[in-house]
Amino acid sequence: MRLLVTGGSGFIGSNFIRLILSKYPGYSVINLDKLTYAGNPDNLKDAESNRNYKFVKGDICDSKIVRDLMKKTDAVVHFAAETHVDRSIMDAGTFIQTDVYGTFVLLNEARKSNISKFIHISTDEVYGSIEKGSFTEESSLNPTNPYSASKAGADRLAYSYFKTFNLPVCISRSSNNFGPYQHPEKFIPLFITNAIENKPLPLYGDGKNRRDWIYSPDNCRAIDLLLHKGKIGEVYNIGGGNEMENIEIAKMIIKELGKNEDMINLVRDRPGHDKRYSLNSRKIGHLGFKPGRDFKSALKETIRWYTKNTQWWKKIKSGEYRRYYGRQYKAD
Ligand code: NAD
Ligand code: TYD
Repeated sequence: MRLLVTGGSGFIGSNFIRLILSKYPGYSVINLDKLTYAGNPDNLKDAESNRNYKFVKGDICDSKIVRDLMKKTDAVVHFAAETHVDRSIMDAGTFIQTDVYGTFVLLNEARKSNISKFIHISTDEVYGSIEKGSFTEESSLNPTNPYSASKAGADRLAYSYFKTFNLPVCISRSSNNFGPYQHPEKFIPLFITNAIENKPLPLYGDGKNRRDWIYSPDNCRAIDLLLHKGKIGEVYNIGGGNEMENIEIAKMIIKELGKNEDMINLVRDRPGHDKRYSLNSRKIGHLGFKPGRDFKSALKETIRWYTKNTQWWKKIKSGEYRRYYGRQYKAD
């Protein structure tokens, strides 16, 4: 199978490409990534020598590039997006551009090609917050910040291309991911790396917001399952079954690193901060999916990874990592 993966130089995309290249030696992967501040070629250094892997530096909003790559593609897995809620609050424009318009360009070019599957990577955040119980795939969408609203737009646009044009779309909505290669602007890696550097841990509000956490390699297994067995036109929730308050996680990180809880710094809350996310993931369970890792051991492994790979995140935190390779791709 020839896969076009968008956003493969980011956190989940790079984990996914690594999984595909090791699990399916007969598959080839083209990674189309713009290398924004969040894209990092270091994430896939190990894949560079693999002749089944090709990196293309380009924007998903560029229909010429996308059209050309679609001709060489059997299936698309679309991760590329602006992803950080806090940034979307400061500057929503790039979120609308990439997450909504970029998704439109991909769908529109995919429609003119002959692909067998288009996996659209959505998020549990499109449902908004839930006080009790869990969202099913039938729950209505109620996004509350520019990131989740852009993702909800993209999610429904992808579905519309299935309904209207019979494009073979399948949608994943996963809960919060964590694990190696996550950008240190996000909660868990920010807290791990700040704790290592003896810097304060900025916990929003009262720290009692709740998220359901999934270890990224587990999510990638689920996406692999959707690629091969997911029903066209269907949405699948992918939860980790690990619901926790942010403050509990902060304390676990501090304990594991042998630091002191007075590092926790309660700061002004994020505007519109969703209180709780929770998914009912029975539907993907019917396809045979079980999240593999228990939260504590996966968090420990993640902490070990950030402790060992200080170069990786120090480069990012210091803003030095702007250098990258790969020339801008030109369509034939
Ligand atoms: P990330 O921010 O780490 O990576 C995003 C990647 O997309 C980067 O490599 C970036 O360079 C690339 N990109 C951005 N704009 C682009 C453009 N215009 N053209 C081409 N490439 C572009 O994100 P992530 O955490 O790996 O998330 C991947 C996907 O999974 C996103 O769609 C996100 O909404 C979704 N998701 C993430 C989580 C999570 O907890 N991280 C949870 C559920 C869903
Ligand atoms: P984040 O990793 O930004 O994911 P999302 O907001 O998309 O769920 O944040 C996870 C949780 O951690 C969320 O409730 C906000 C909180 N948080 C903090 O308390 N402090 C921080 O510095 C960050 C980045 C997040």
